[in-house]
Amino acid sequence: MNELKVSPKGRVAFVSGANRGIGRAITIELLKEGAKKVYAGVRNLKSLDDLKPEYGDRLIPIQLDLKNDKLIFRAGRLVKDVEILINNAGVYESGGFFSDETLDSLEDNFGVNVMGLVKLSISLIDHLKNKPCAAIVNVASVLGLASMPFSGTYSASKAAVHSITQGMRGELTNSNVLVMGVYPGPIETDMTRDLDMDKDSPQNVANDIVNALKEGSEYVFPDVMSKQVGELFFTEPLSIEKQFGSFVSEEQEA
Ligand SMILES: NC(=O)c1ccc[n+]([C@@H]2O[C@H](COP(=O)([O-])OP(=O)(O)OC[C@H]3O[C@@H](n4cnc5c(N)ncnc54)[C@H](OP(=O)(O)O)[C@@H]3O)[C@@H](O)[C@H]2O)c1
Repeated sequence: MNELKVSPKGRVAFVSGANRGIGRAITIELLKEGAKKVYAGVRNLKSLDDLKPEYGDRLIPIQLDLKNDKLIFRAGRLVKDVEILINNAGVYESGGFFSDETLDSLEDNFGVNVMGLVKLSISLIDHLKNKPCAAIVNVASVLGLASMPFSGTYSASKAAVHSITQGMRGELTNSNVLVMGVYPGPIETDMTRDLDMDKDSPQNVANDIVNALKEGSEYVFPDVMSKQVGELFFTEPLSIEKQFGSFVSEEQEA
């Protein structure tokens, strides 16, 4: 296992999905922590204009759509000095496995959360390997550690992100690249707008990621719910599936 500490201070980062939600909080946190430069991967180049007065040239929007290979590989050519890649951008398309929407939802979730993440990582990996010290941070989800019924296609995409994170870490063992998986529970963003339950703040996720970079941690459970799931993941992983299943039976009973 690597024992790399990759403090953002003075370093160059790339954040996908930097314009809103968790990605925006990470972008701001990296800049506050003294990152030399943050490349903000966004679909709309103007979407971070409000941050420009405060952060000026340290914040550089880069056009990125994870469904557009040309933009993904163009980004790789533009950001050769990158040292920290935060694979944050993602979509949540609800859907279980036995409906008319299953295949579309599977394709949407995998298209961005899995294929997009892998393509962007391929596009930037040589730059990361060239640096004395670098990091790849993959934002997965607690739903990638066990499947949530009726959100199974999203869960499957995040399980793939979890597995990809392990695979990247394995391939980069003894290298200069720290590989971190982040497993949030419910966080207050547009993605969970319709979810009626307690949610943690994107700011807490961003703080935990920055602290984990400084400490060289490989697993991050950044909120109240995910800390509980994280404990079970290391001690009693099968109980997570039962716990997620019970949310659905409780709803059916109600
Ligand atoms: N919120 C939660 O409870 C929660 C829990 C666990 C994990 N996560 C994960 O955390 C990450 C961030 O989620 P969030 O809650 O911050 O969601 P969000 O507020 O919906 O933001 C999603 C971000 O991803 C970007 N994005 C979506 N599709 C894209 C594409 N094709 N190409 C490039 N960028 C794209 C969006 O850009 P546009 O503005 O252009 O659409 C936006 O910046 C995701 O990977 C999500 O799965 C979230």
